[in-house]
Amino acid sequence: MGQGIGFGKVILFNEHFVVYGIPAVVSAVGAKTTALVERKSGSGYELKDERPETPGYKAEKREQQRESLDIMLKFMNINTQHHHYVITLGGDLLAASGVGASAASCAAIARAFSDELNLNFSDERVNEVAYEGEKGYHGTPSGIDNTAATYGGLIWYRREGSAQLMERMCLRKPVEVVLGNTGTIADTKMVVAGVKERKEREPEKYGRLFQDADQLVRNARKELEDFNLEKVGAYMNENHRLLQEIGVSSPELDALVKLARESGALGAKLTGTGRGGYMVALTPERDLQDRVANAIERHGSQAVRTLIGV
Ligand code: MEV
Repeated sequence: MGQGIGFGKVILFNEHFVVYGIPAVVSAVGAKTTALVERKSGSGYELKDERPETPGYKAEKREQQRESLDIMLKFMNINTQHHHYVITLGGDLLAASGVGASAASCAAIARAFSDELNLNFSDERVNEVAYEGEKGYHGTPSGIDNTAATYGGLIWYRREGSAQLMERMCLRKPVEVVLGNTGTIADTKMVVAGVKERKEREPEKYGRLFQDADQLVRNARKELEDFNLEKVGAYMNENHRLLQEIGVSSPELDALVKLARESGALGAKLTGTGRGGYMVALTPERDLQDRVANAIERHGSQAVRTLIGV
């Protein structure tokens, strides 16, 4: 039986802007998706999805998941005529919008097939396969999610033409964050298409916002590397405002962001696709992390306590 893993992720700066070549910062989170692949006699494949989920997520994504799997199998040159493959997904990463669930599953599946069929995939190859798989979910992925899912750690990511450029970043020490789940499922393809449409309709406004996002992430990188967390938090707040302006937040996300800030978070913003899914709050040290997470739970939402920069 072949086995593989993919990391969950949280985008700290510049989701959406990254689709257009603006740099972004992403960190793996502690939770992972696992995949097992068993080869049996027969043909075709079946997928057993045993990941924990935001209610309704797996049903909502089933068709995109099948499309993604078909793309990956073709890209890996795996013929399902002569064997029957049973693919089982599991792990502790919640299948939900915003935490890179689709990319983590794609990286895990690529690794599990490589293991089962002795394909000796390098991380680079896993990343390429996961990127193809992401097309089933995203249409035109920037590549940030599969990169984080494959390599883990803290990453400065930029797309240049078809090249996916990554640099590893280091923090003085890991930092506590809280993720707050709106419980709403977002369709990345649709939200990304909405930004494109509005950007084409209002080129001047979007040009300005994109320039601001570019400058912001460069400043934020410096503060992150110098470990000035108060300033990093302020940049996260500013990044949330830019994301609101390009129309990818939602009342539920704004409410969680406000609650996190009022509970003492140094900064908070939506993370990932937006229009639902998760927000991320910067909450260094366990006490602050607990305070913010407890406030989110009292509000009736699910909170995840995790670390960035591990
Ligand atoms: C989704 O996690 C991140 C987006 O920027 C899409 C992408 O980069 O492909 C919204």
